[in-house]
Amino acid sequence: MDVRPLSHDFGAEVIGISLADVADPGARGDEAYALVRAAFEEYSVLLFRNQEITDELQIAYSRRFGPLEVAKVASLGEGTPFSILTNVDRATGKLVAPDHKESLRAKANQLWHTDSSFKQHPALASVLSARIIPPAGGETQFASQRAAWDRLSETTRTKLFDACVWHDYAHSRGQIAPHLASERERAAMPPACWRIRWRNPVNGRDSFYLASHAYAIEGQPEPESKALLAELMEHITDPAHTYTHAWQAGDVVMWDNRATMHRGRPWPAGEHARLMMRTTISASDADGVAGTRPPVEPATA
Ligand code: OGA
Ligand code: MN
Repeated sequence: MDVRPLSHDFGAEVIGISLADVADPGARGDEAYALVRAAFEEYSVLLFRNQEITDELQIAYSRRFGPLEVAKVASLGEGTPFSILTNVDRATGKLVAPDHKESLRAKANQLWHTDSSFKQHPALASVLSARIIPPAGGETQFASQRAAWDRLSETTRTKLFDACVWHDYAHSRGQIAPHLASERERAAMPPACWRIRWRNPVNGRDSFYLASHAYAIEGQPEPESKALLAELMEHITDPAHTYTHAWQAGDVVMWDNRATMHRGRPWPAGEHARLMMRTTISASDADGVAGTRPPVEPATA
């Protein structure tokens, strides 16, 4: 296995090992998994090119890393291991209108976020495969929350060390349209509170754990809390430190939800189809979940 860095401080293309190698249930698979897992811990974003992707292969590969999330309520793919991101209406095969729920969801995905930080159980990683790629736009952009933590001054790092932050799916959706998160979604996904910092248990490196879902810093008055969150989001996603992935047929990208943020980029969605399939791996205690939980469960949001 070889790796080719994608940017100066995070991300790597994996060369010489395929998803199928890792998915292999035998000793060869164990060995391939160990190599890819080590690269994942180190680089946070991994790119595999020219994969012959199928749903079965994506699931078998993803399962190597841990249990898979079931796609959230009211989303395409609900009840299955796949979150489906597309502007194609399954029933008619036509492109959906700009005010269609899936168009609004695509817009919400274009806000910087990490997957599942609003859930009661956060995600270790996401695996995204490109199934239909538009001829222009539709890139996915990444920022390293670990590199952003390292770029802080010692004073700020100390100040934020034990801060906890509330995350809510309805909050990120609310930035696109007031009632985009339905009652059913709100009921299934109440706000969750996490430390602002996730320490990787393998290499001991700290990372921010923020996202568009983050709406309040626990124990801080609202104006200060909102201003600080906005400032930190800007710091983390500084364009000088992002990687933009332009999708090619056969690409699969995997990212560490503990150490990165990402966002989709727009494309002419009224003219061109885009279809992406995501599997999401739940974090376990070995991935540092316990270290992310606040010491005392706060009583109110
Ligand atoms: C995702 C996501 C962005 C994109 O799959 O979690 O945010 O570019 N995707 O489709
Ligand atoms: Mn996402």
